Amino acid sequence: MTRKLYIKTYGCQMNVYDSARMADVLAPLGYTLSDEPDDADLILLNTCHIREKAAEKVYSELGRMRHIQDAKAANGGRTLLAVAGCVAQAEGEEILERAPQVDVVVGPQTYHRLPELIAKAERSRPGRGILDTDFPVEDKFDHLPEERQPQGPSAYLSVQEGCDKFCTFCVVPYTRGAEFSRPVNTVLAEARGLVASGSQEIVLLGQNVSAYHGEGPDGREWGLGRLIRELAEIEGVQRIRYTTSHPKDMDDELLTAHRDVPQLMPFLHLPVQSGSDRVLKAMNRGHTADHYRRIVERVRELRPDIAMASDFIVGHPGETAEDHAESLRLIADVGFAHNYAFKYSPRPGTPAAMNTEEAVPEAVKTERLHGLQQLLGEQGHAFNHRTVGMRLPVLFDGHGKRPGQLIGRSPYMQPVHVDAPDRLIGRMVEVDITEAHPNSLRGRVATSTWDGASAHGVHGAGPPNSLEERAAV
Ligand code: SAH
Ligand code: SF4
Ligand code: F3S
Repeated sequence: MTRKLYIKTYGCQMNVYDSARMADVLAPLGYTLSDEPDDADLILLNTCHIREKAAEKVYSELGRMRHIQDAKAANGGRTLLAVAGCVAQAEGEEILERAPQVDVVVGPQTYHRLPELIAKAERSRPGRGILDTDFPVEDKFDHLPEERQPQGPSAYLSVQEGCDKFCTFCVVPYTRGAEFSRPVNTVLAEARGLVASGSQEIVLLGQNVSAYHGEGPDGREWGLGRLIRELAEIEGVQRIRYTTSHPKDMDDELLTAHRDVPQLMPFLHLPVQSGSDRVLKAMNRGHTADHYRRIVERVRELRPDIAMASDFIVGHPGETAEDHAESLRLIADVGFAHNYAFKYSPRPGTPAAMNTEEAVPEAVKTERLHGLQQLLGEQGHAFNHRTVGMRLPVLFDGHGKRPGQLIGRSPYMQPVHVDAPDRLIGRMVEVDITEAHPNSLRGRVATSTWDGASAHGVHGAGPPNSLEERAAV
C-alpha cells in the first residue's frame, strides 16, 4: 500500500538530515514523499526550539494542519499528524494539551521508533496523542535503515549530536541531549552509499562537529580532521564541508586539513556569538575574542582564500554598548563572507533566561542587530565582489527563480545563478563570475577548459583575506 508523507522542516541542517532519515524509516511502510500536505496520510512537522519565534511557528502551523485533517475526516479519511524535533523534545506533553489533534510527539533521539508509534496511533482514536521523548540507551543510528534514499548533489551526514557545552542562552543541550559521536566506519559506509546514489558533496553535521571523537577502525578515538582525511579517500567524494564548529575544539589536525585535503571546501562557519570577553564569559563560551582571532589567523595561513562565517547574538543579558562595540570590532578585524546575527531570545529553562534584571530592552536589541547586520552585510557584499572575474567550480543543485536558470554553490558557499541547461544539475561546472549581489553571484558557464585549478577552489589565491585588508572593508 502506498501512502503519502508530507514533511515540513524548521531549524538547522541537522533537522534537515533528521527529516530525510525519518522518510527513510517510513519508506518500508509504503510512505512516499509528497510536496503538498493536502492529500497526505501523514504530516510530520520537524521543529526547532532555538528562538521563541521558531517555536511559536509550530503552533500556527498546527492550526493550519487542523483544517486539512478536518477536511479529510469529513470525507471519511484520516490524516495523522506528528510533531518531531526540538520543540517536541522541549515541550512534549504541552503540545498534546495545546493541540489535541496531534497523534504523535517524537523527540530527536527516538524517531527510529516512528513505525511503531505510527502503527499505535493508527489503532487509537484521534485526540489520544502518543508521546516518545526519551533519551534512550539504544542509539538511533543503529536502528535506522542502512540504505538512504538519493539526496541529490549535496548530502548532509550527521556524525555528532548533542552538546555538553551548556552556553547559558542555548536550549540545544536540553533538546538534543549529551554529546555523542558516531563510529568512523558507520560514517564512511553512509558516505559511500550517498556517493553511490549520486551525491558529490558530503556535509558533515554536528551541533559541535569539531568536537567529533568517534571510534576509529583501529579502536582509537578519531577527531574530525582524521575523519575528513579518510572521507576524502572515497572515490567520488568531490567536496567536503562541515558545520557547525566551536572555537574551543578547532585542533590542528582539523585546521591543517584545510591545507592538505583538496576536497575540503574553503569555508568555515565558526560561531563566536560576541566579541566581548565579558559577554563570552557570561555566556559560558569558554574562550576569548582573541582566541577566536588566533584561530582565524591560523586557518588563513593554511588556506589563504578561506571564507569565514560566524553566528552573533546581540542583547544577551548584561550586554552593554561597549560590549556591542567589541563585537563590531571583532567583525571588522576578521572580515566575514556571510551574515548570521540574531537577537537574543530568552529560552525557558536556560540560565540566561533567569537573569531578568540585566535584560536588554527590545528596542536596544533591534538597534544593535541593525548595526551588526549592516557591517556583516557590507563585508559579505565586498567578499562577493572580490570573486567577480574569477572562474569558480560550481556544483549545480537545482533551478533558480527564473526559467532557464540553475543555481549552485561556489567553493565559498556563495549561491551562484547561471543560465544553463537542466542537464547540468548535479554536475560540477566551471563558471565565470560576472556579477555580485549582497547574498549571491551571477555567472556564465565557462566555455574553455580550465587548466589553472582543480575543482576545489583557488588554492593560495582567491579573495584577499588578510586581517589588514579585511579590516579596511
Ligand atoms: N552549536 C552551534 C550553534 C547552535 S544554535 C554553536 O555552538 O555555535 C545556532 C545559533 O543560534 C547559535 O550559534 C546562536 O548564535 C543562535 N542562538 C542559540 N540560542 C539562541 C538564543 N537563545 N537567542 C538567540 N540566538 C540563539
Ligand atoms: Fe548551544 Fe553552546 Fe552547545 Fe552551541 S556550544 S549547541 S551554542 S550550548
Ligand atoms: Fe533548532 Fe534543534 Fe537545530 S533547536 S537549531 S532544530 S538542534
